[in-house]
Order: sequence, then structure tokens, then C-alpha cells
Amino acid sequence: MNEADSENIAATFRRRGYSVTDDIKKADAVVVNTCTVRQRAEDKAISQIGRLRLWKENKPEGKLFVVGCAAQKLGTKYLKSRFPFINEVVGARAIEHFEDALEAQYGPAEAAIEASHRNLFRSPQTAYVTIMRGCSLKCSYCIVPAVRGPASFIPATEILEDARAKLAAGAKELVLLGQTVNSWRRDGATFSELLREVLRLPGLGRLRFMSPHPLYFDEDFTALLAREKKLARHLHLPVQSGSDRILKAMRRGYSRAQYLDLLARLRAAAPDLAVSTDFIVGYPGETEADSRDTLSLVKEGRFSLAYCFKYSPRTDKPGMKASIGEAEMEARLEKLLAAVRENSRVVLNERIGKIEKVLFETETYGRASGNFAVRVKAGGIPGKISAVLVDGAEKNTLNGKLI
Ligand code: 5AD
Ligand code: SF4
Repeated sequence: MNEADSENIAATFRRRGYSVTDDIKKADAVVVNTCTVRQRAEDKAISQIGRLRLWKENKPEGKLFVVGCAAQKLGTKYLKSRFPFINEVVGARAIEHFEDALEAQYGPAEAAIEASHRNLFRSPQTAYVTIMRGCSLKCSYCIVPAVRGPASFIPATEILEDARAKLAAGAKELVLLGQTVNSWRRDGATFSELLREVLRLPGLGRLRFMSPHPLYFDEDFTALLAREKKLARHLHLPVQSGSDRILKAMRRGYSRAQYLDLLARLRAAAPDLAVSTDFIVGYPGETEADSRDTLSLVKEGRFSLAYCFKYSPRTDKPGMKASIGEAEMEARLEKLLAAVRENSRVVLNERIGKIEKVLFETETYGRASGNFAVRVKAGGIPGKISAVLVDGAEKNTLNGKLI
């Protein structure tokens, strides 16, 4: 979500004739897009802003914008009093209206400039399309609903217009985005119906979405997944824990068995589906036994990849402090990371001898439908989807030959 917001912010600058630079000394403006999902993210944002004091001293006319979730949480008053050199604070809830902050600093825009653009995070053939903002669930550990507010769904017409424009500008692959992306519903239309509309757009080679929540997949979706080969054979489906007790305390709304049952249904529809996930380690009250349940789920879920996070308290509510010490937290994380690494190796090796449809970003590198990084010696055409016979795997990459 933050990457997509950063792309949109960069676009508002480009329309005023600015371009993006990696060299801070050359920058006339700096935008710090912040995250607060874990305390560490917030701390990093704060120290990044602190480091910009020097830049601002050397370039007093430079403009500093602090935006996003940590900006929303900490507030303009706090940030401007601690860092008086900030020009504008734009919280996550107002980030679609970043243009207003530009106007406050530079005055109204003259005629918009058509500028060639490069993606900041993804290759040019991939574009993000935000379809919802906020979240209406109440996972106990999560700060997102408080910071970004309840779910709001963008109308289908706007989504399709955005998607069409990005395809016309050369994107081959779209990534629909939202905190609980598959909960999208608007004007009587469901998420699967929206997918069908997007899948019909000319120029689309592949469709992804991120991140779905297990509660919102229905039979209509599984049927669509089975039929529509342009739907990526990959889902990032955060599970958070393998222990029923912890899942319940987290208020995730499903049990381990229900999650696994969903995976089985999805894989029955798309046998080559790759599934990645998120885990939180050391949730309050997590016992050795709970953490073993998480370890065993890694294998049972056959996850291609898993992001593992140490629990970070985001509230002062009683009972929400971590109940294990830092050393134990580290030890559980290390064990989980090792299990994930080993499992990813197995899942990747299963692809050897198979044919993957790869969207190339360079002549030698691209991404498979299952989201695996793929390398070939030569011959890939950037922006084209080609078949690759996989003949090896290392780390998180498949190696193969174009066929
Ligand atoms: N502590 C640790 N990890 C968290 N996440 C969300 N909130 C917290 C927290 N308080 C993780 C979840 C989520 C991912 C985006 O961040 O795993 O899926
Ligand atoms: Fe947070 Fe995701 Fe749960 Fe919403 S669904 S509360 S964003 S973890």
C-alpha cells in the first residue's frame, strides 16, 4: 500500500515537471512515506526525518513532506514541534489528496505536464491499482484499522479507469491493492465480479491482488481461479499463527483447520498455486506448544515464502505486552525462519522440470505466475510472457531455459 501511495505521490510531482532522484543532494523536495505497523517501522521513520535536518540546513528552500501511517498516528502537531523543519504532514487518511499539500507549498498547478514515468518499486510492466483503503476487521495486534480507518471501497468505474490508464501506459501486469483486498464490494458487485471486469481489459497479461483475507474467499472466486489463467497462480494469504488458541486471541476469524481447508479448496482449483504468508512470533501468551504449531504449519501449508515478524505491541491495553523475553523471541523467530527457508527450498525444487509462464523484466530475469523469480541465460523479452522450462533452483530463484 505504501509503495502504491509513493508511486501516486511521485506522479503528482511529475505532473508539475519534477522528476525523481536517488541523490538527496540534488533533491528540491523530500517525501518520507512512513509505516507504523510495527514499532521498528515508526522508529525508522523518526530517525530518517531526524537525518534530514542536515539536508534542510544546507537547502533551506527545500521542502520536506512527511506522509503515511506514522504521520497519521503521531500527528502534525507532535511532528512539527519535534522537527520544525518539516513543511507538510499528510497522514494516511488524507494521502489520496497529497496534491493539496503540494498546492500549499508551491501554489496551484499550471497545466499538467505529460511526463514519462518510471516505477519506483516495480518494473515498468507492473502497476498497482488501489481498490480499497482501510480495514474494518479488528485483529487484536493490529494498528491499521485505528490509523487508516474503516474499509472504504473505490467504485468499480474508477478502478477500471485507473487500470485502463496504466495498461495503456504499458503495464502488462496489474496488482490490485487493499488491506483486505478480497472484501471489496460496491454497488452490489463482488470482488470476483470486479476481477472479471479487470480481466477483460485489453493489454492485460496477468492479474495479481494483495492482500486477501481468508474470510472473504467464496466458491465464485475458486471457480474463477480455476478458469482464468491470467489470474496469477499465487496468493499472499497471511495466516499469522498455526495455533488455534493464538488465532482466537488474535481475532483472526478462522481456525488452523479452516485455513488449511481453504488452501485445499484453492489448490484443487489451481493445482500449481503458490501460497506465501505472514507469521507473527511471540504474540502475548504464546507458549512453546503454540510456537510448535506454527512451525508445523509451515510444512503443512507448503508455503513458497513466509514473512516472519516479532510481535510488536501497538497498544497499551492490558495483556497486550509481549509475554516472553527478547532472547526467547529471537530464538522462536530463528527457528521459524529456518523452517521457512527449508520449506521454500523444497517448494522451489518441486518446480524443477515444470514449465513456468514468466513475465520478463529484463532479457534474463522475470517473474513466474507463482511469483517466483526466474533467471534464464538470454532471450527474455521485457514486457512479454514466455514459457520457461525450469532446470534448477537456488535461494529464492528458479533457473531455466526459454522454450
Ligand atoms: N507486530 C508484529 N507484526 C505485525 N503485523 C501486523 N501487526 C503487527 C504487530 N503488532 C504483521 C502481520 C501482517 C503484516 C503486514 O504485519 O503479519 O500480516
Ligand atoms: Fe490489520 Fe490485516 Fe487484521 Fe485488518 S485484516 S486488522 S489490516 S491484520
